[in-house]
Amino acid sequence: MDEQYVILLGDEQLRISRGFLERYNVPGPRYTSYPTAPEWRDDFGPEDFRRALRESDPSPLSLYFHIPFCESLCLFCACNTVISRDKEVSGPYLTHLKQEIDAVHRELPEGPSTSLGAGRPVVQLHWGGGTPTYLSTGQIEELFAHIQERFSFDPGAEVSVEVDPRVTTEEQVRLLRRLGFNRISLGIQDFDLLVQKTVRRIESPEAVRALIQLCRSLGFSSVNVDLIYGLPHQTVGSFAGTVDRILEFDPDRIALFSYAHVPWLHRQQKSFEKHLPTSREKFRIFRMAIESFTSAGYVYIGMDHFAKPQDELTLAQQARTLHRNFQGYTTKAGANLIGMGVTSISALDGVYAQNQRELEAYHAAVEAHGLASHRGWKLGEDDLIRRSVISRILCHGVVFKHEVEQQFGIDFDQYFATALEGLEALEADGLVVLSPGQIRTTLLGRLFLRILAMPFDAYLARHASAEKRVFSRTL
Ligand SMILES: C[S@@+](CC[C@H](N)C(=O)[O-])C[C@H]1O[C@@H](n2cnc3c(N)ncnc32)[C@H](O)[C@@H]1O
Ligand code: SF4
Repeated sequence: MDEQYVILLGDEQLRISRGFLERYNVPGPRYTSYPTAPEWRDDFGPEDFRRALRESDPSPLSLYFHIPFCESLCLFCACNTVISRDKEVSGPYLTHLKQEIDAVHRELPEGPSTSLGAGRPVVQLHWGGGTPTYLSTGQIEELFAHIQERFSFDPGAEVSVEVDPRVTTEEQVRLLRRLGFNRISLGIQDFDLLVQKTVRRIESPEAVRALIQLCRSLGFSSVNVDLIYGLPHQTVGSFAGTVDRILEFDPDRIALFSYAHVPWLHRQQKSFEKHLPTSREKFRIFRMAIESFTSAGYVYIGMDHFAKPQDELTLAQQARTLHRNFQGYTTKAGANLIGMGVTSISALDGVYAQNQRELEAYHAAVEAHGLASHRGWKLGEDDLIRRSVISRILCHGVVFKHEVEQQFGIDFDQYFATALEGLEALEADGLVVLSPGQIRTTLLGRLFLRILAMPFDAYLARHASAEKRVFSRTL
């Protein structure tokens, strides 16, 4: 008989067979954009992005700044990083980043004047990486002042930063708070020493506890932690230790990432390949974590995210105002996202643009053009319609067909006849409920949101035949 797994989520009991897991734990996009990045064109340069900025509607802004540097490489890492112990590298980078900020600011219509309160408000700002706290306190202060002089912040803006607890000092955290950062995200991954040694990232729970206490005492309104399941040598028992510690720390949000094994992109991941848990063990680890977090009162938002019941993410999901972008779930729907720095991505109205991915190329592009885009995509009408449906599935767990029909002037069932046919098998497996007016994901379906979005993706079939290794697996 097919082996059964049982997952307890609150009062509900989900039953998953091994065959089911094999069918649905397949490579798929994470849909931080639609169309997904592999589809974008390579001929989208600085002038195309300049036009997109100039033509962008005057909606509020979400600004992302990429600080790519890290002092050492964690072997599991699939992020865009530049490893250097020599901190000199950050000087020229910040010079170019400031030039890019100036260029973006110049091109924005009704760009904010330097007096606070004028122009398009920044409702969200995020420093990500790499490791933003690679920068010295002087550099942090200078970069933030440069941004503040050019953009006006909404009084309720979310101002957030990713930090690596191993390299983040008390002085840096105090400074970030004083500058106005109100959200902080700590990379933790796993506290087990064998796992930590294998991935070359040693981090003590005591130091993390102290850092979280400091953040709370300074008044950060939200503390997030990042964990990864599926790392080498991880077992249900070992990861349970990490989960228990995290629950003691009582963060506001938890990101529980599925380890993305993509050695064709990040070769160092090969070094521990033989110690990776099997896909069954990885699923058991996931099950233990999701059961523990939900029984401790966290709400499973979807994909990788958990939040407390009173957290804005949870409330936005209930109110169907949740949005998803390159940083994951956010409550700031409707903002134009502008990414600055090497590899960063922008999403403006109907345009995606990505900056140069290599440091040298980024520097050269900024010097030559002020802006550094090198890939991008202008969404057509079909892209916009499909993006809207995929976003509703991922963020709200339900699609009301009449809303999409009204927004785009289509007959939903006719337009999506093939996708709806594709969903029938998923309905039979209990992932979704199809009715004349709605597509509603079940609790089980919320664990496999990517799978439910995939039938609406018009580009996916090409990858199935041409390049199987573009995406990581669902779980
Ligand atoms: C860009 S990193 C920034 C955090 C910071 N540098 C640190 O490590 O503390 C953001 C998060 O991506 C996640 N991440 C990195 N590589 C991953 C992989 N291969 N699979 C899944 N998640 C990964 C980690 O959880 C990490 O905290
Ligand atoms: S996990 Fe964080 S610190 Fe480690 S290499 Fe990746 S970005 Fe750098």
